[in-house]
Amino acid sequence: GGAEPKWTIAMSQCNLGEPWRAQMNADLKRAAAEHPEIRLVFNNAENDTLKQRSQIEEFVSAGVDLIMVCPKEAQPLTEPIAKAYRSGIPVVVIDRQVLGDDFTTFIGADNVAIGREAGRWIASHAKPDARIVELKGLMTSVPAQDRHAGFREGLGDVGEVIFEADMQWLEPQARKEMDSALARFDEIDVVFAHNDPGAHGAYLAAKAAGRAEGMLFVGIDALSHEGIAYVNQGLLDATFEYPTGGTVAIETALKILAGEEVPKNIELGTSTHAQAKYEDE
Ligand code: FRU
Repeated sequence: GGAEPKWTIAMSQCNLGEPWRAQMNADLKRAAAEHPEIRLVFNNAENDTLKQRSQIEEFVSAGVDLIMVCPKEAQPLTEPIAKAYRSGIPVVVIDRQVLGDDFTTFIGADNVAIGREAGRWIASHAKPDARIVELKGLMTSVPAQDRHAGFREGLGDVGEVIFEADMQWLEPQARKEMDSALARFDEIDVVFAHNDPGAHGAYLAAKAAGRAEGMLFVGIDALSHEGIAYVNQGLLDATFEYPTGGTVAIETALKILAGEEVPKNIELGTSTHAQAKYEDE
């Protein structure tokens, strides 16, 4: 026993402010604990792109065996990740894409499909002329771009998006944007936010204005202790699962370290969680 780990994996998480990221790190940690041959070192970029760029550069100088990264934004992280990869260090990109293909593998769910599911769900539960607010995630990150595109497609010609804003994935920012929407529009029927913190922030704003009743709130992530709990408490109407991929990431890293080929793109599944009252429709 007491074997020294053979490999060091350095992980750069773009932030730990949102519960979904803490969940991903917990999932990674649990999966890694079953493999004494690896040592997993976590780094928090604190939602700071420059800090995340230098983290990747430091991993390369330190000569780690494998890099895992959830990039905050696509474009600015592309170059340091490409450099690391071209220097011969395998790079596993999780959840938010970079540009080009200078990385070993990308692991994540199909955000166009998730956005489309949310759009379809809203199209079938809102009135045909619904007035809709879309609170977008950080639009320099690919999941927000994809959720937006998928949402509009799924919505089709149901309703009208009367207000849209970039809330940067952040609950307080979503609450602020929803305050503006409420001030500008006397009638809002639906809020679609690109994540559950955003949907919850919007709900709190509407509730404080005495206008949450009868409004639909839909988010994405569906953590058991966050989005699903909000649905069960009747705050959100629906949320769509966005898996963290933690276990798959560790399994994939082990394969890469063992010299096996892995697919360039590993797609994770999703599922829908709506309030019980919608179930027998
Ligand atoms: C957490 C988060 C999640 C969202 C994901 C998208 O930082 O905002 O809520 O689903 O990032 O990359």
